Formats: sequence, C-alpha cells, structure tokens
Amino acid sequence: MNSPKSFLSHSFQLGNLQLPNNIFYAPLAGCSDYPFRMMSAKYRPGLMYCEMVKMDALVRHDQNTFHMLDFDKKMHPIVGQLCGSKPALAGQAARIIEDLGFDVVDLNCGCPVDKVTKDGSGSGMLKTPNLIGEVLANMVAAVKIPVTVKIRAGWDESQINAPLITQIAEQAGAKAICIHGRTRKQAYKGPANWDYIKECKDVAKTIKIIGNGDVMDGLSAQKMFEHTGCDAVLVARGTMGQPWVAEDIIRHLLGEKPLEREMEWRRQGLLEHFLCTLDYHHAKRVAVDMRRVGCWYFKKASGTRGFRDAISRAEHPDVVKELILNFPLGNLEDGGNSDNEDSCEQEC
Ligand SMILES: Cc1cc2nc3c(=O)[nH]c(=O)nc-3n(C[C@H](O)[C@H](O)[C@H](O)COP(=O)(O)O)c2cc1C
Repeated sequence: MNSPKSFLSHSFQLGNLQLPNNIFYAPLAGCSDYPFRMMSAKYRPGLMYCEMVKMDALVRHDQNTFHMLDFDKKMHPIVGQLCGSKPALAGQAARIIEDLGFDVVDLNCGCPVDKVTKDGSGSGMLKTPNLIGEVLANMVAAVKIPVTVKIRAGWDESQINAPLITQIAEQAGAKAICIHGRTRKQAYKGPANWDYIKECKDVAKTIKIIGNGDVMDGLSAQKMFEHTGCDAVLVARGTMGQPWVAEDIIRHLLGEKPLEREMEWRRQGLLEHFLCTLDYHHAKRVAVDMRRVGCWYFKKASGTRGFRDAISRAEHPDVVKELILNFPLGNLEDGGNSDNEDSCEQEC
C-alpha cells in the first residue's frame, strides 16, 4: 500500500506547464466566479478552473462571456473551459483563451443540462467520441498551452465509454483528462463510481488522469488516489464554502495535524468572500450572490437555518455584512449535518 504522502506531487507536469501540486479546483457554472476564485487562490490549489463558457459566444466576442473569464494574476495557474461541439470554432475559441492569458484550455464534455446537450455539447459529446477527438485536435493545433478535457463516465450505465474517450483524447494531443465518475443520466445523484476512473488510468499511456467525484476532504482525496491510481484529484462541491480544502487535503496527505476550522473561522471565511464579492460586483448583485454563498459556509453545521434564511432575505450588502458579523455562533455545532441542505444544493 502506498503512503498517502506519495500521492501528493509538488511539481505536476502538464505539457509544458509545471503545477505546484495535484489538488485541483473544479469549474462550477454560476459559482466559480471571480470572487470565488479570489478566495480559492489564497489556498493555492494546483490548478483552478473558471466556469464554462460557450465557444460560439466567445468567438462572437460576447462581452458577458468575456466578463466571466476575468481573472487576477493571483489565480494562476488557471484554466479556461470551453463548451461547444463545432470543430471549426474550437481552434478559434481556444486561441482566444490563450490570448487572454490562461495557462490551460479545457473542453467540457460533462455538462448534463438539457439545453446544453441538445445541440450535442457538454455530455452530449459522450455520444460522439470521435467528434471529441476532432474538436480536441483542432484546439491542440491552435494553441501552445496544454489542452485538456473533462468528461463523465458515459451517457448512462449501458454506454460507459470513458476509457475509449481517454484513448481518443490522448491521440488528439490532450495532456490530461478529468473523469467525473457519474454518468450523464445520474446528473449529480448517487455516489460517483471510481472504478471507471481506474479503467481510464489503466488505458492511459501518456495522458494524465484527473479523478473527480465525491472528493470532499483529505480522507476522500486519499481514497480517490488509492482506488484509481489517478494523477490528480479535482474537487468541485467540496470547494463551496471551504476554499481552504486544498490546504486540508495536502496536510492530510502529508500526515500533518488537521487545522481546526471552527465556526468563527468559517464566519471569517464568509466575511472575506463577501468582501471579495463587494469589491468585484455592484451592490444589488452582491446581495443576490450572498444568498447562495452564505449557505455554503455553514453548510456542515446544525442550527444555522435562521442565519441562512435571513441571508437569503437580505436585499442590501450592509444587511448581509451585519448578519455575518453579528450572527451568534456560540450555540451552533459543527455537526456535519445540515438542517436545510436541500436549499443549498445547486446543479449545473
Ligand atoms: C453548481 C455546479 C456547477 C458546475 N459547473 C460545471 C462547469 O461549468 N463545467 C464542468 O465541467 N463541470 C461543472 N460541474 C461539475 C463539477 O465540476 C464536478 O464534475 C461534479 O460536481 C462532481 O464533482 P463533486 O462530486 O466533487 O462535486 C458543476 C457542478 C455543479 C454542482
């Protein structure tokens, strides 16, 4: 059995790029925005993704799309993720990502949302593996930065084709493939099946395998490495309200004592996230965004329903700030159980 320490890499090679570690933060549409990534950057994940953007919107220079790709130099190394299935657009869109200064460009083949899959994009591409190869090859030909791809295990249990897509992506010149161990049909329900990630690792020759699905903390990251032999792990929902999760995972793998993340720590985290949001967005948007973000930071505690309800009614940043600063945390428990989890769940 490998020691957990051996899973951690401090110089992860991705094509011509050297990453500081192999604990990555996922793309989260509607969530991994600029303030979220400013918070994440403090804890130095090996790589962080922007939320996905559509190739055709990028190519027609849609300003909102460019806005979603805003980043600060503290966020390097950073990935721009493209969603689209047209080979002719893929190269152009990848070059725009490169020109914007991104370190990596990724192709989304995992988004399960109907309006994305109906034109054959996102996880719709799992049905046309050769098209994934064609799109990736055009991206690779267009840029110098590493090209990667993020997929699901397959469309449904009867059509698991992640290992085949791994081989196709490798041949197309992709430097890494991230496998979310759920099918499109599963969306986000039920556990991810890590056997599928292992099967991809078994067929990979040079392409790096990034394991994704249900990595929430140090122990689950260790288990993902042990079970699949993956080269890196990608944390998605586990980053929401715990931007420090990379630090926790790294400490765990190194066998270091876990840092206490008590309620007051989380309150300070939420306050900082609020201040990052206030710095970046106008007031109205801040209040709306904090309804979502406020949920996350106390998700693991029991007894926070009142706080979350109040924050979701707040209409002005000043009210949000008062709530964060003054909510009495003394009577809350770090129970690992939410009394209001459903209202905090989000999907892409
Ligand atoms: C709210 C939300 C938004 C997401 N947005 C994206 C996205 O833009 N691109 C992508 O490839 N995956 C996206 N995903 C999928 C995650 O990156 C990840 O693959 C999935 O949540 C499984 O990982 P987890 O079990 O660690 O959450 C999203 C997931 C959620 C919950």
